[in-house]
Amino acid sequence: MIRPVAYVAGTGRGIPAKVMSNHDFAALGLDTDHDWIVERTGIVERHIGAPGETTMSMAATASRAAMKRADVSAGEIDAIILSTATPDRLLPSTAVDLQAELGATRAAAFDISAACSGWVYGMTIAEGLISSGVVETALVVGAEKMSAIVDWQDRASCVLFGDGAGATVLKRAATADRGILSVYMRSDGSLAELLWRPSGGAKVPYAQAVLDDRSTYVKMAGREVFKHAVRSMADACDRALDAARLTGQDIDILIPHQANVRIIEATAKHANIPMDKVYVNVDRYGNTSSASIPIALDEAIERGRVASGTTALFVAFGAGFTWGSMVVRF
Ligand code: UT7
Repeated sequence: MIRPVAYVAGTGRGIPAKVMSNHDFAALGLDTDHDWIVERTGIVERHIGAPGETTMSMAATASRAAMKRADVSAGEIDAIILSTATPDRLLPSTAVDLQAELGATRAAAFDISAACSGWVYGMTIAEGLISSGVVETALVVGAEKMSAIVDWQDRASCVLFGDGAGATVLKRAATADRGILSVYMRSDGSLAELLWRPSGGAKVPYAQAVLDDRSTYVKMAGREVFKHAVRSMADACDRALDAARLTGQDIDILIPHQANVRIIEATAKHANIPMDKVYVNVDRYGNTSSASIPIALDEAIERGRVASGTTALFVAFGAGFTWGSMVVRF
C-alpha cells in the first residue's frame, strides 16, 4: 500500500460537565490524597458523566463537532468505528446507537474492543477500509464512561480514570502531502489478567455472587501494567517512526495515551522528543482509555499545536495488552 491513503479531515470531543478533583475522593471515604495522586500519576481532576450521560451521548457530541470541522454530513459517512470498554449495553453495539442518533443512514457501524489502544486500532481499520475501496469517509470514535466500571472502593484504580469521548473523521487522501504515514499494532493476551474485569461476560455472567465479590469491576496490577506500558510504548514509537522513515527529531508533536505523566515522560525520552513537543492533558482528564488520544488531538488542534503541515506521532497502550502507534501529517 502506498501511503497516505487517508487523512484526518476533522476532530471533536464530548466531555461531561461535571469535574471531580482529587480532593473529592475524601468524601467517598477513600484513604488517598491529592499529593499522592499528583506525584504518582500527574492527575489533578477528571470529568465524570452524569447519570443520563452515556457512552453514546458523549460520542455523539464528539462526532457532531468532528463532522462540522470536516464539513461532512451524516449521509456522507460510510463507516462508524467506535472503540469502547464501556458499551452502553452488550448487544447490539454502541456504534449502531450512534449511527441512529447521527442519522448516518449509509454507514456500517460496529464497536471494537482494544481498550486504551482502541483509537489507534480504529484508525488503522478505517484506513484499511478506505484503502480497499469500500469506504470513502469514516468516523472513528473513542468513547468511555469509565466511571461506570471502576470500583469506587479501590483507591489503587478509581482515582486514575475519567469519562469522555473523542472523534475523528477520516477521508480518502486526495493529495500526497498529508495523511497517515505509518501504523503499528500489537497485542499480548497472555497478560490479559493484569488489567481486566473478571466477571460479567459470557464466561462468568452477572449473578449476585459476582456483584457481591465486586469482580465485575476493573482490576489492575498497577506496577506491572506500568512496566509493560513503558516498554511497549517505547517500542511502538520506534516502529511507527521507522516505518515512516523518520526519527524523533522529525516529529513536531507527540500525542501519547494519557494514563500517567511518568509513562508519558519515559516514552518521550525514549523517542528523543523533548517534553515541550509532547501534548499532556492527563492532569485535567485522568485516563479516558480509548478517548484519551482523540480528545488530546482535538485540544491540540484547537490550541494551534497541530496545524497544516504538522507531523504528529501517536502512541497507545492498554488492557489486553494491546498497543500501537501511528505517524500522521496534517
Ligand atoms: O491505560 C493503560 C493502563 N493503565 C496504566 O497505564 C496505569 C499504569 N500504572 C500506574 O500508573 C501506576 O502503577 C499507579 C499510578 C497505578 C500506581 O503507582 P505506583 O507508583 O506503581 O504505586 P504502587 O502501586 O506501587 O503503590 C505504592 C503504594 C502502595 O502502598 P504500600 O504497599 O507501598 O504501602 C499502595 O497501596 O501506594 C499505595 N496506593 C495509594 N496511596 C494513596 C495505591 N493507590 C493509592 C492511592 N492513594 N490512590
